[in-house]
Amino acid sequence: MTSEQAAVPAPEELEALERLCIAVAVEAGRFIRDERPARLGVTTKSTDTDVVTVMDRRSEELLRGLILAERPDDGILGEEGADVVGTSGLTWVVDPIDGTVNYLYEIPAYAVSVAVVVGDAHTEGAWRPVAGAVADPSLRLVHHARAGGGAWTRAEAPVEGAPPERLTVSAEDRLGRSLLATGFGYDAEVRARQSQVLTRVLPAVRDIRRIGSAALDLVRVAQGSVDAYAESGINAWDLAAGWLIVEEAGGVVTGEGRHPGKVLTVAAGPALVEPVRSLFTA
Ligand code: IPD
Repeated sequence: MTSEQAAVPAPEELEALERLCIAVAVEAGRFIRDERPARLGVTTKSTDTDVVTVMDRRSEELLRGLILAERPDDGILGEEGADVVGTSGLTWVVDPIDGTVNYLYEIPAYAVSVAVVVGDAHTEGAWRPVAGAVADPSLRLVHHARAGGGAWTRAEAPVEGAPPERLTVSAEDRLGRSLLATGFGYDAEVRARQSQVLTRVLPAVRDIRRIGSAALDLVRVAQGSVDAYAESGINAWDLAAGWLIVEEAGGVVTGEGRHPGKVLTVAAGPALVEPVRSLFTA
């Protein structure tokens, strides 16, 4: 089954899923911000520069418990190893801290990304998000969307009656005037290749930004506070919620083929997405 053929939940269920994405992302976001221990218990994963802290693991445990308490039949796929096989056809794809290096250095650009996807979440190109939230604990904001419902930002603790803010991608259509967010992997060889690509990208755009959280890069595309984002090597948990938020803000998210993923992820407004993709695949 392709991701396009997978059944999308009914409108009322989608609304409930979006609400739960917001609630659990905000709770995990508060946890990593407010309960940060003096000793972060740093270890490494794929390479010496790919760090994981005790808070990545605790945040993922918290998310897992909160999700399964409400949705015991759904699956979960998490950056720190959560892999629950569900029976409902829905899988929660979670990044308990996206931007772990920023978190480690106390740079206030890290996020909790929570999405519900249909299709096979373990196979690139075989799933797509239907609800998602990206909590930005440093700014006490949460960005969220559900399929067909628009993309929105609201305060972590909204004042009674305060309306959420609707997100819209930038209308920029000139590559040379575009501000492009990007990121780099943790493997030295991959980085060497990415630096080669940059020699082509830098002269072609207004400038680049390396914010350090793919989820927040995607939110920035949705807000129009950068014009585009492109990166190779990112995983489903970095991408799932932000992908939907960009699309619901009027943008396009694609990859080398039709689906975004590890090989390449590109996000931008409709007029800019092809020029950016060409720049990264030339
Ligand atoms: C990383 C961040 C970073 C991106 C890397 C990701 P992590 O996720 O999103 O911006 O450039 O590709 O791996 O490791 O902080 O969850």
